[in-house]
Amino acid sequence: MGNEKFRFETEAVHSGYCSNEHQGSLVPPLYQTSTFTFSTAEQGERRFAGQEEGFIYSRLGNPTVKILEDRMAKLEKGEAALAFSSGMAAVSAVLTALTKAGDHILCSQGVYGCTFGLLQLLKEKYNINHDFSLMASKEILEEEIRTNTACIYIETPINPTMKLVDLELVARIAKQRCIPVVVDNTFCSPYLQTPISLGCDIVIHSATKYICGHGDVIAGIVVGKSDFIKQVSRTTQKDIGGTISPFDAWLLLRGLKTLPVRMDRHCENANILVEFLRNHPKVEKLYFPGNSDYIDDNKIMHKQMKKPGGVISFSVIGTKETAQLFMNQLQLVKIAVSLGDAETLIQHPATMTHAVVPEDERRKMGINDTLLRLSVGLEAWQDIQEDIEQALKKI
Ligand SMILES: Cc1ncc(COP(=O)(O)O)c(C=O)c1O
Repeated sequence: MGNEKFRFETEAVHSGYCSNEHQGSLVPPLYQTSTFTFSTAEQGERRFAGQEEGFIYSRLGNPTVKILEDRMAKLEKGEAALAFSSGMAAVSAVLTALTKAGDHILCSQGVYGCTFGLLQLLKEKYNINHDFSLMASKEILEEEIRTNTACIYIETPINPTMKLVDLELVARIAKQRCIPVVVDNTFCSPYLQTPISLGCDIVIHSATKYICGHGDVIAGIVVGKSDFIKQVSRTTQKDIGGTISPFDAWLLLRGLKTLPVRMDRHCENANILVEFLRNHPKVEKLYFPGNSDYIDDNKIMHKQMKKPGGVISFSVIGTKETAQLFMNQLQLVKIAVSLGDAETLIQHPATMTHAVVPEDERRKMGINDTLLRLSVGLEAWQDIQEDIEQALKKI
């Protein structure tokens, strides 16, 4: 496959796979093997020397994983991709590949809690410093980029405040200084946003979320230029070893086939629930791309996203205990971290996904004690709404 005329929905089903190369099997086969035999000792030598194409050992590559990587590269409009055992394995492989001791990372004003933890670790162990930036204008960026800035790292929408960063603007400024721009595209999936087509260099996914879509895999993906992907594959992935299992890659290939259909439904349900929450007297603030108090976000949303997505954050009037009481009243909606699953999930960032972030930093990121993050699932919106409504009545 790889025909440019196919649309996203078709690529999500077919890209990267040719059944003629696999005994006509309609579905990509699962190569559940740790290693690959060489026909001769010399062939093994050639493969290790990189003089002959072919698989060696599943930490270094596997045919099922390769199909997933090719499909993800196509969907994200990149040249190549690598799959990892978790989103954090992907984030750490990229950041360690791009930086060395003494470097600086410019980061969006808010990131997933464990990414924050990794930035702290890089600072404490290797003197790789970071700053958080709103990245709201050319002037802000030019002031905050340093001579030792090795990369710009962005989440947009930012987890969990749903604030947006203008990717085209950041990519333009970064390009003038040859600084790679890395985007965590977990909240959008390539169906809603393709940062590489906006000039960014590297895309990361927690594939645990929308890419999988069924809540049964922990995985990560990195997409970028072939040379960079080769570099990561031969260094920070091979030697640190956060490789995906073939079975998890196989499950992700299955999940990807329905990504556009699922995303449409997540978005449709979320749009309806946003209207309901926005007008509810017990809801204090609402955070949703294109529908929040953030100045300029509407414009950015229309510029770079196909739809606002399926995650809504909102705060309730009251205290941390009010927010927790509300969560405890929910019957259909499950209390769980993660997002992008068929089930609607709710979590309390201050005590869950962002509990590792010190309180003052958390407040700067806009995470207060009454903020809740709702990952809208695929259930009937009426049932989700009725559950939220009855729980809000009880606080
Ligand atoms: C935006 C974002 N990036 C990265 C990660 C880490 O992914 P994983 O849990 O698959 O390691 C998460 C997890 O929630 C996330 O929300």
